[in-house]
Amino acid sequence: MTTRVWDKGEPLDDLVLRYTAGEDHALDDRLVAYDVRASIAHVEMLREQSLLSDEDAGALREGLGTLASEHAAGEWRVALEEEDCHTALERRLIERLGDAGERVHLGRSRNDQVLAALRLYLRDRIAELASGADGIADELEALAMRDGGIALPGYTHMQRAMPSSVELWALGFAAEVRDDAAGIRGVSRRVEKNPLGSAAGYGTADLPIDRESTRVRLEFDALHEPVTAVQLSRGKGEAHLLFEITLLLQDLGRLAADLVLFATHEFGFVELPAEFTTGSSIMPQKRNPDLFELVRGRSAMAQGALFEVLAIFAKLTSGYHRDLQLLKAPLFRGIDGALDTIAIVRHALPGIQFREDRIELDPSLDAAARAYRLVVDEGLTFREAYRRVAKNLS
Ligand code: ARG
Repeated sequence: MTTRVWDKGEPLDDLVLRYTAGEDHALDDRLVAYDVRASIAHVEMLREQSLLSDEDAGALREGLGTLASEHAAGEWRVALEEEDCHTALERRLIERLGDAGERVHLGRSRNDQVLAALRLYLRDRIAELASGADGIADELEALAMRDGGIALPGYTHMQRAMPSSVELWALGFAAEVRDDAAGIRGVSRRVEKNPLGSAAGYGTADLPIDRESTRVRLEFDALHEPVTAVQLSRGKGEAHLLFEITLLLQDLGRLAADLVLFATHEFGFVELPAEFTTGSSIMPQKRNPDLFELVRGRSAMAQGALFEVLAIFAKLTSGYHRDLQLLKAPLFRGIDGALDTIAIVRHALPGIQFREDRIELDPSLDAAARAYRLVVDEGLTFREAYRRVAKNLS
């Protein structure tokens, strides 16, 4: 049985298949629904352009819908022999619909198909990541409402510096995490361009493919033009999103670093609920903040994924290259890691208890405020006030 639509009769070496399809077929399972959506838009466009009969278009639309529901129900998976989701879908359409199935690939290539599917997938993940980050900001604002009045020392150089509060601490992180959410939404400008109709990368000759029609159906903001720009852009949306994810995970990692420190015996500013701590295999008394340590560690994964993606497309000549397939693994790893981390931080924040009884602010934290008062009340220069306060400190 030939399983690849490009098969021309010569068998493909098994090791070569395993190496070139690699894990792509498995990664592509998450693109199936998006490829179906883009394929339906392509079919409708072909019908409008009289390149497909109403009857064939109807059969293809229905066939694609059925394949999508069967895939969602776990009834089939993209097989290694099929290489990727595009071939897997087309092969099944041909198997079920015969002639109509053979008509679906007119005026497209897997090269523009994969970009269309990835962009529709990224649209959903951008919305999910950004609303997840906003959800963390909401939890931090709730914490500021709940425990905001509790005083905290503010640190610079990890030395006690000035009076702060749980409110200031939590709202600082909330503001940055909201900004990270906005940064993630900003990636849309790279994703919301219709790649369909660029085909292998150079358009479709004299075939009357209507790129505007698929743009409207798939709700892209613009056409990606000229067609040669499409393959040049592959990897840039991925890198941009992973950069924004890295900034978010670094903020969450710094929040986690504070909480790990605040939960030490020496600080004791916060108490973590027992169900959020893990135990030691040797020391019966231990309650470890592993959850926050792993949140802190996770930003390394996002950064690694970003560097991997950047390195894959750097220095490629223009046009499609199979190297580009390798972008998917770090992209998905980065997205999945970020979504997991967002979920656990949202889950854990409501359980954080600040221990007002354990937090002491010593009077030296008011030194700058005292100097300000001398300036305002006695008209001293700030430097003179600074020296006077410094002299009276000990
Ligand atoms: N799986 C491939 C990718 O992600 C799809 C495009 C394959 N195109 C090709 N000409 N082999 O890049």
